[in-house]
Amino acid sequence: MIWFGGDYNPEQWDESVWDEDIRLMIEANVSMVTVGVFSWSMLEPSEGNYTFEWLDRILDKLHAAGIRVDLATATASPPPWLTHNYPEVLPVTEQGVRLQTGSRQQYCPSSPIFRRLATQLASEIAQRYASHPALEMWHINNEYGCHLSHCYCDISAAAFREWLTNKYTTVDHLNEAWGTAFWSQRYGSFDEIHTPSAAPYFKNPGQVLDFDRFSSDELLECFRSESRAVRAISPDVPLTTNFMGFFKPVDYWKWAAEVDVISDDSYPDPADPDSPMIAAMSRDLMRSLGSGKPWILMEQAASAVNWRDVNAAKPEGMMRAWSYQAIARGANGVLFFQWRQSVRGGERFHSAMLPHTGTDTASWRSITQLGRELAEMPASSDRISRSATAIMFDWDTWWSIEQPGLPTKLSYLELVRGWYRPLYDAGVSVDFVNPDSDLTAYKVVIVPSLFAVSTSSIEKLAAYAESGGTLLVTFQTAITDESGQLTSSGYLGALAGTLGIRIDEFFPQSQTQEVLLDGTVGGGVGTMWAERLIAQDAEVMAQFSAGQLQGYPAVTRRSWEGGASWYVATVPDNHLRKAILQAVLTDGNVEGSRVAAPAGVETVVRGQQLFVINHTDQQQEFHLHPDTEGAVPQEHALEAYGVAVLREDKGGPEFP
Ligand code: GLA
Repeated sequence: MIWFGGDYNPEQWDESVWDEDIRLMIEANVSMVTVGVFSWSMLEPSEGNYTFEWLDRILDKLHAAGIRVDLATATASPPPWLTHNYPEVLPVTEQGVRLQTGSRQQYCPSSPIFRRLATQLASEIAQRYASHPALEMWHINNEYGCHLSHCYCDISAAAFREWLTNKYTTVDHLNEAWGTAFWSQRYGSFDEIHTPSAAPYFKNPGQVLDFDRFSSDELLECFRSESRAVRAISPDVPLTTNFMGFFKPVDYWKWAAEVDVISDDSYPDPADPDSPMIAAMSRDLMRSLGSGKPWILMEQAASAVNWRDVNAAKPEGMMRAWSYQAIARGANGVLFFQWRQSVRGGERFHSAMLPHTGTDTASWRSITQLGRELAEMPASSDRISRSATAIMFDWDTWWSIEQPGLPTKLSYLELVRGWYRPLYDAGVSVDFVNPDSDLTAYKVVIVPSLFAVSTSSIEKLAAYAESGGTLLVTFQTAITDESGQLTSSGYLGALAGTLGIRIDEFFPQSQTQEVLLDGTVGGGVGTMWAERLIAQDAEVMAQFSAGQLQGYPAVTRRSWEGGASWYVATVPDNHLRKAILQAVLTDGNVEGSRVAAPAGVETVVRGQQLFVINHTDQQQEFHLHPDTEGAVPQEHALEAYGVAVLREDKGGPEFP
């Protein structure tokens, strides 16, 4: 089944409202709500004094109505008494500012006091509700690191030293890894090391990278501490914490194995025409984090959010289209932040399932329509097949390639999106992988700018291509090792031989510069990057055709038995990128989409279901390729923001 519901914060309302909430939830076919995310001060008004009675009452009511509960450990926002009694829990910014209470998430992730008190509350809640009949799932904390991911206080500094001691054992090893011979940074003992707070000039790149890793790990320790306590009491109930798509501070590859259910919060901007692609990419990441397991869309907005400069409302149909997109890409739940729109506090103007303006509204009609449809929806496959094509995504690289002091300023996410976009447009399914993933089942692996990478990962990529996989690697790959260090023997490591190329020098381009390209794979322009490249054992598929690098290779290909290894030395324009990808997919024998659909119409296959989603505000038509679907009518029309779900096994369009 597909869960439908949202965050429910009954503590914001007088209890007289609760019965109406439940009545309307039933009307909307709500099947699960997340309760208690921000309830700490209402559940433990002073240290060790618990007031669970109100939560008992609402959980009983939800149960009586047949609504399941994703029960939070309530630790996302420490209550004022906590930081009043223990001010050292308050986090400190890079600039040395201690953040105050009065908002949310004001805790240092390394604080032993915070962890102790949060774990204590999680444990009390687990004890009280482990056998409550409404309980479906545990929701640990909320959006770890959303506002506060890196803390620079003295407690964090001590924890960082401990983390470094575990990693390097001796300070000499650390000095070696961080290259502290540079700028007189050599440490005599671990005691001399601090967090990389504000400094006069460039900070040590190895220190900053380790601090990013440490910060992600410290949040993970907070999660582990609470989840251990909950699991000890309630081992059979699945547990989740909500991720935030491609969220830089937290390495979700590391976290994914520790949750039973992957869940995600997703707030694409309704005003951004790229939003369907951006959302699709996050959904593919969520599916990939769980190795193809269904996941839950834990939060989305019914319409506008309240945290952009201008908070666009969703036109009618968009929320539904985006919900089906999540299902198509592996979600088994569509939930919202939040059930009833707040009238107090910082999120008064954030939309909700039940708006300020009540039930005689377009928004409420959209919610109830979706709830009805999902309740009737035939089950989607839980065995989501692996895609033939993968894109490599790596947090170490994200943290490294955006540091200052590099050849140019790059956005890792934009580089990755650049390669995802044409595949999305063409309806080619993509999984995300990381440098440790098993690549052997993929026909094509695309590696955009894998900047910081270990020798063994480079060798693995090389072996993948040399044993029949089709690999596409782009500029700024294999530049540093996992400590941020380079060698004096050039770039790319073992990949240089696999790709059959040598990099002579980087030529980063300014925002306004373009480099012209031509060649057998196609011509066009490149931006942002160029390099003087020597093709030693590779075919030149496109070269720079003007300027300083005229005649030098820009796109190369080396054949290997059963596959090929490609290299792209710039950011190609869309047309050229499509031509390159087409050639790469052909090399890898990846089949194209079975649907011919105009721009803005997304097609996704999940098990036996083919989802076609019109993200435009116009009616659109699409065609199924005649050789694929014997009995299925070949031409379909989709209204603005319309969705069609075609089932192969039923021989025709079935739903909605
Ligand atoms: C996050 C939080 C929610 C809410 C929404 C608003 O996703 O988890 O509590 O603040 O943002 O968009």
